[in-house]
Amino acid sequence: MKPYPARAIANRVRVLFVSSEIYPLAKTGGLADVCGALPLALAHDGDVDILVMMPGYDSAIAAVDDLREIARLPNLPGGPGRLLIGTMPGSDLEVVLLDQPNSFQRPGGLYIDDDGREWADNAIRFAALAHAAVELSMGRVLPNWRADIVHCNDWHTGLIPVLLAGQSGRRPRTIMTLHNLAFQGLFPPCMLPQLDLPPGSFSVDGVEYFGQISFLKGGIHFADKLTTVSPTYATEIVTPEFGMGLEGVLARRRNDLVGIMNGIDETLWNPANDQTIAHPYSAADLDQKALCKAAIQQEWGLTVDPAAPLLVFAARLESQKMADTLLELMPELMERSSVQVAILGKGAAHLQDGFAAWPARAPGRAAVRIGYQEDWAHQLLAGGDILVHGARFEPCGLTPIYAMRYGTVPIVRAVGGLRDSVTAVGAVPIAGGKASGFQFDQADAVSMLDAIDTALEFYGRPDSWRQLQRNGMTRDFSWRGPAAQYRRLYEDLALDAA
Ligand code: ADP
Ligand code: GLC
Repeated sequence: MKPYPARAIANRVRVLFVSSEIYPLAKTGGLADVCGALPLALAHDGDVDILVMMPGYDSAIAAVDDLREIARLPNLPGGPGRLLIGTMPGSDLEVVLLDQPNSFQRPGGLYIDDDGREWADNAIRFAALAHAAVELSMGRVLPNWRADIVHCNDWHTGLIPVLLAGQSGRRPRTIMTLHNLAFQGLFPPCMLPQLDLPPGSFSVDGVEYFGQISFLKGGIHFADKLTTVSPTYATEIVTPEFGMGLEGVLARRRNDLVGIMNGIDETLWNPANDQTIAHPYSAADLDQKALCKAAIQQEWGLTVDPAAPLLVFAARLESQKMADTLLELMPELMERSSVQVAILGKGAAHLQDGFAAWPARAPGRAAVRIGYQEDWAHQLLAGGDILVHGARFEPCGLTPIYAMRYGTVPIVRAVGGLRDSVTAVGAVPIAGGKASGFQFDQADAVSMLDAIDTALEFYGRPDSWRQLQRNGMTRDFSWRGPAAQYRRLYEDLALDAA
């Protein structure tokens, strides 16, 4: 066993970073990408001593290297559990897993069963994660390690600030990062006795939300600082249009709320070095991207035609992503000569079925893969010409950023993080080196189609198009800047607590 505190070096702020999903151990969306990449960027920074923590799903237990037990926790909600520590595959970042097999090792999804129903014990599973995180952060697990900061992500970790607020004596400061307010962790009050919360927690100034238990509201109320994943989303969520009912609670905490734009892992998402795509390419040799397009056309059953504009979509098939609007537009799109559409997605059954019917209706021009597969996403973003990414709301939106990195020009709705990441043609000139995509304002089919038509028109002007691609590919989307912002936040908070 490694000696502790080899890690506890004076003057470094100690952070316990907790998430329900961390790439590559478990992933259902961008949350995992961020929670995989940000801690790595912080660890490289040298001034942050970071330990990441997540549930011991089968996939995580199988993938973590050098796994060993560091604690037994007999009294967690849901029964006894163990804390295991090991290193992330491909790095020396240490990760702690909560091993509670009856909660986290089961066939099905992370939050839902194979029929799409939420696990009935979700409240208990993530209450267990919160209690375990509190033990570790308070210094009751590793002999020489206690956290200065606990960084919580989304509702699954919302009870951590609630529990820490109930601790007597010195406690770590907490940050709650809001990746998506659509998921709030709402449960009926009858679950309360099983969550082991401090007395009085079920109140307006606590986890109570219109008679229910809300993990996210508890986190928002008790965390010392709140962050969200883009500057624009930070301003949107204090309004009724985007607050998802939490705008009042958020507005009260406005002075403690900051928007920090997500970065991307530039090693994992790099067309010059991506083992999963047909051929490497970069901004300097963009011609090679045509080989990736040809590969998609061939493998996905589209007509192999270098000149046909290939529109791609890769996202959860949900209302958030305006997947319904894109489906509605399929007949119109197929009327535009030679346009091809390739869809990758998983989600609502009616949308899956709706898209799945298209390859038969438009052979060679529509391709659809229903499923969630990492390498398909890379291949599609490498092979596409244009990414269509509608959004009714979008906290950050990593997929359009990945698209820009791969020279696939995004069309996005001007909302949330998409406003911050995609610089629109029209707002600034293409030649100035800034414009990197197209935006539309309204969350409707007319607006989306209009933007698609504008993009198709630009696609017909090869010089402008090349410039647009290069503008997106060469922009800095790395974690360097955002990680430095998080580090400063940690340091300010830790100083505050001292
Ligand atoms: P969100 O987190 O709201 O789903 P993001 O765009 O921030 O949206 O992140 C989505 C992540 O999930 C990206 O890494 C994207 O490549 C991935 N993804 C989405 N749908 C699929 C899919 N069907 N197959 C593989 N990866 C997917
Ligand atoms: C959420 C949001 C997405 C964001 C991701 C990572 O799932 O829907 O916009 O990019 O989290 O922060």
